[in-house]
Amino acid sequence: MAGDGKKAHLIFLGPPGSGKGTQSEFVCKALGIPQISTGDMLRAAVAAGSELGQKVESIMNSGALVSDELIAEVVKDRLVQADAQEGFLLDGYPRTGPQAETLSGILEESGIELDHVVLIDVPEEELVARAVARGRDDDKEEVVRERQRVYHEKTAPLIDYYRAQGLIREIDGNRPIEDVTAALMEAIGA
Ligand code: AP5
Repeated sequence: MAGDGKKAHLIFLGPPGSGKGTQSEFVCKALGIPQISTGDMLRAAVAAGSELGQKVESIMNSGALVSDELIAEVVKDRLVQADAQEGFLLDGYPRTGPQAETLSGILEESGIELDHVVLIDVPEEELVARAVARGRDDDKEEVVRERQRVYHEKTAPLIDYYRAQGLIREIDGNRPIEDVTAALMEAIGA
């Protein structure tokens, strides 16, 4: 962890629009670790018109999740890169039980232990308002509500999975960005 020369291995969990991406940038800069956002990687693939991008574009625009198999390939390729060897922040991954199991296997093989799973909590109406105001392709209100529904069905169960491992650090994300950052840095001991 910061301070003892060891870099952190973090997961940011939380509903769409809770501020995972926003807070990841601050934390990654402060700790000198890469931000690994599956959402950003998929949007880059769509923008580049790659084979992956063509496969995932309509899925993302509907608010559904991309298949666990495709995401496993994307994450495995990313985690072997040089900048991820001493620490990383996973932003928006894992998002399903099978993804958490895949990650657990990758970490075990590499002898890596997670330090913290940060859960950013924000009420649903605030999340919808934030996303609609942002205006990304998948930020139309009905798509945003579908992303929230999918989060509750598929991703929220991971909270108990990681709580059982003693890793959950819960942060109130419904306050000014800099207050969330301060609470988060304290929660991870940075
Ligand atoms: P992804 O990009 O991961 O989207 P998301 O989880 O829906 O996250 P958002 O980017 O909407 O929210 P965020 O929590 O990062 O908040 P942000 O900081 O941007 O995924 C997109 C899609 O890709 C998925 O729907 C799926 O199809 C696919 N995908 C990605 N990963 C996948 C996976 N692992 N498996 C399967 N499919 C996957 O903030 C939101 C807004 O609020 C911004 O405008 C920001 O400025 C503002 N804001 C932030 N903090 C505050 C604050 N404290 N107060 C006021 N405004 C704030």
